[in-house]
Amino acid sequence: MKEQLEDIRRQAQAELSAASTKQELETLRVKYLGKKGELTAILKQMGKLSPEERPIIGQLANEVRESITALLESSQAEIKQKERNAKLASEKLDVTLPGKKHVLGNKHPLSIVLDDIKEIFVGMGFDIVDGPEVEYDYYNFEALNIPKNHPARDTQDTFYINENIVLRTQTSPVQIRVMEKQKPPIRIISPGRVYRSDSVDATHSPLFHQIEGLVVDKGITFADLKGTLETFVKRLYGEDSVVRFRPHHFPFTEPSAEVDVQCFNCRGEGCRLCKNEGWIEILGCGMVHPKVLANCNIDPEVYTGFALGLGLERVAMRRYNIDDMRLFYDNDVRFLSQF
Ligand code: DAH
Repeated sequence: MKEQLEDIRRQAQAELSAASTKQELETLRVKYLGKKGELTAILKQMGKLSPEERPIIGQLANEVRESITALLESSQAEIKQKERNAKLASEKLDVTLPGKKHVLGNKHPLSIVLDDIKEIFVGMGFDIVDGPEVEYDYYNFEALNIPKNHPARDTQDTFYINENIVLRTQTSPVQIRVMEKQKPPIRIISPGRVYRSDSVDATHSPLFHQIEGLVVDKGITFADLKGTLETFVKRLYGEDSVVRFRPHHFPFTEPSAEVDVQCFNCRGEGCRLCKNEGWIEILGCGMVHPKVLANCNIDPEVYTGFALGLGLERVAMRRYNIDDMRLFYDNDVRFLSQF
């Protein structure tokens, strides 16, 4: 029996040290220590032993059990460690791998310029208001002193929805909507889309953007208009910009003017950018016509005002030296990612 026990111990040691998985260990545990295991089988025969032999064999059997148990535990720990190492190795993070680049979007150049313009006017105390793009003929023309059959209508090829409703050809109708609702003092700008039935080329598009400005209060003069616009132009194009006011005509302002900035490329010498003129036209403006004030129930004997209208695409084309307006609307990321 003693030898049997020693055999079991030796065999178990050999088999356990050869085991390499948890599964194998479990099979060995059942084989040696389980209820139907080899050691149990021997212990069951203890009854046959003499009273002197019993404690000796019993002690030996316990020793064998303990040594097998100890070996099982250490093998278990070893296998667990190996599995852990294998897992760690397979899940290793290579911190030297280059990361995946995220493609960042860009602000559209028109949005960049619009945001700059808004910031300048907001800095001078203007509010930003919105108006409808589908507009009554009354607001787009009539109330702005452009009655039916007025020649100014011909210069703005209009999309008519019906006889009384148009796609607005300018942002000026927002002036009327604001003056109808709000008592002076009024100081607003209104940026937005406008529509004209023009065919597409490098400088024309049936949809483009304007920014309207309007100031109405007691005692507003042309000097306020000049001061405001000079400040605006210097903030937009730089402190050393030179501004010129040229007489012009708009039905809704009297007197009216167009504003040019001296070409910042050639400083007035004449170059490709300014088409050899030395000056670049950037906006239309004037003192709000008394009839327009009266149309909105604002007494022209008490109040005066000035207005201005600016083409956003033009400003952006000048700023970025873009020679074809269509680039703004193509949304080619190779173009857009340059700004
Ligand atoms: N609405 C004019 C246009 O589309 C631009 C304009 C000129 C607006 C003079 C104004 C202004 O408010 O005073 O051509």
